[in-house]
Amino acid sequence: MDTAQFISKSNNNSVEKASFTWQTPSNIALVKYWGKSNPQIPKNASISFTLNNCHTITTIDFEKKRNSDENLKQVQIDKKVDFDLFFEGKQKDAFKPKIAEFFTRIQEYCPYIFDYKMTINSENSFPHSSGIASSASGLSAIAMCLMSLESELNPDLSAEEINKKASFLARLGSGSASRSIEGPMVVWGNHPEIAGSSDLYGVQFPYKLHSVFENYQDAILLVDKGEKQVSSTVGHNLMHEHPYAESRFTQANDNLGKMSEILQNGDIKAFVNLVESEALTLHAMMMTSNPYFILMKPNTLEIINKIWEYRNENDSNICFTLDAGANVHVLYPENEKEKVNHFIENVLSIYCQKNHYIYDSVGLGANKM
Ligand code: DP6
Repeated sequence: MDTAQFISKSNNNSVEKASFTWQTPSNIALVKYWGKSNPQIPKNASISFTLNNCHTITTIDFEKKRNSDENLKQVQIDKKVDFDLFFEGKQKDAFKPKIAEFFTRIQEYCPYIFDYKMTINSENSFPHSSGIASSASGLSAIAMCLMSLESELNPDLSAEEINKKASFLARLGSGSASRSIEGPMVVWGNHPEIAGSSDLYGVQFPYKLHSVFENYQDAILLVDKGEKQVSSTVGHNLMHEHPYAESRFTQANDNLGKMSEILQNGDIKAFVNLVESEALTLHAMMMTSNPYFILMKPNTLEIINKIWEYRNENDSNICFTLDAGANVHVLYPENEKEKVNHFIENVLSIYCQKNHYIYDSVGLGANKM
């Protein structure tokens, strides 16, 4: 795989101080990524809707280190990236190991990170302990800030190259983060039917989306705001010895081919069927791994049953999907917004922790602030 293209070519050392702020979104997968090999290579291709309201805003202040010769030698020996991390205004050392690991994985591609002291300030638009995964938006925001610095060091970079490398870097931090740079739909993972797709970075869905999927709605029902019982990394690893792994990876790739057709021809009934089947298959993989686990809660199932009831009774195209957690993403076309929002407020919200849910819709990707 051609990773050499991502090694920074800059030899300009003139940026002493810089600060960049990016807002990057979360995303929700329709065909799920579950299973990977090193270094962060997905076992199957996945596709997601980029979200609009659920996002992270991150500022990184870069300050060039003033190294005396002695100091410089020491830095080169230590090869440690120097950064402080603040989350919602407070120093957050608990998040540092994950970010330090990210910097280790990208150092080969962004050697300039050793030259700067970085101060990272981050905040999410959604509550921290909401069970909404923040790694996709969090790591894509850091990747975009790094690319802003890199484009000052190397002004020849095109906007396209910047996004591609940002997605490549974000992937090394968290696979799904590769799908949080652009929108409205992003494919990550090499797939024969998706032109330009790659295991190394996400690409915008390259074909014309049918109008029924424009401004698609996603209401996130917060069933369980607790910390995840099982981290995604542990879950992905359980696919290594999983009895159904190979057929799952084949199925996911087949489903992505089908999803690509559906997104172009607007067959919304087929969309509903495929999206729900993907969500339940993801959870079936968790239930059939060893160790096995169940991330759905009783209220997750209550909500699913209510959605099915509503769909039958109202000839609706509402459907659900799930992440690696108990929360439910309710997906519906814009023309059903008024009725479905009413249903959420009156019926589904009682199954949410503290009646908490978030209205979101499909968004367009990262924004420089
Ligand atoms: C269930 O991207 O969180 O949300 O690469 O280990 O950071 P790491 O995993 P992560 O996995 C996301 C899994 C998922 C499905 C998906 O988003 O495709």
